[in-house]
Amino acid sequence: MKIFLDTAIITDISDRVDTGLIDGVTTNPTLIFKSGRSPEQTYQKIIDLGISDISMEVVGQTKGTMISQALALSDRFGDDATIKVPCTVEGLKACQELSSNHGIRVNVTLIFSAAQAILAAKAGASYVSPFVGRLNDNSICGISLIREINEIFKVQEVRTTKILSASIRNVRDVIQSYHFGADIVTMPPKVFDEMYGHVLTDVGVGIFEKHWQEVPDLAPCDLDPV
Ligand code: E4P
Repeated sequence: MKIFLDTAIITDISDRVDTGLIDGVTTNPTLIFKSGRSPEQTYQKIIDLGISDISMEVVGQTKGTMISQALALSDRFGDDATIKVPCTVEGLKACQELSSNHGIRVNVTLIFSAAQAILAAKAGASYVSPFVGRLNDNSICGISLIREINEIFKVQEVRTTKILSASIRNVRDVIQSYHFGADIVTMPPKVFDEMYGHVLTDVGVGIFEKHWQEVPDLAPCDLDPV
């Protein structure tokens, strides 16, 4: 069960990495755009924070365009780079070549159906990324897709392709993703922070702290065995 952060903003990651709970980071062109930095600068800064699994998305209409970007990223960032390709015919061809001929980890993104996840697994993807939130936004149950892919991968004994639940909007999406078989959930930093929260925890901590202050200081003789 792994937790990835879905952001390209460096402080989002640096503020949370010392929890020891972050296993990777996913980025996409929109997130890179919002970061205000170049992709390479951003990836290097994330690596410098100690993250060793970063999804770096390539763009383009053809397998060749995607592969050349992927190889350049892989040369520069080595095993820290997971290449993210879209679930298009050309993206799947690129996935096939990058995984089987170059041994590169590939994350097939923009997955909206089980059929796409099956093809991505066949193409040697290390990760398939079903977009839970964007399905929900379109009145289709995103978590049902996680469950369906998980059932298919179990029946077919697909072990090398992991389910990376993406496009997460809230803590409920996170819980249900893990419940129904996601190996990894990539989430916005805000959702990660909200996973800690429970009003009864806050109340309980308050009560314990208050009582702790009221514990009488014992004199050394009170500690002696009777
Ligand atoms: C992650 O890999 C995806 O690019 C991301 O989760 C998409 O999320 P969004 O639907 O909130 O843009």
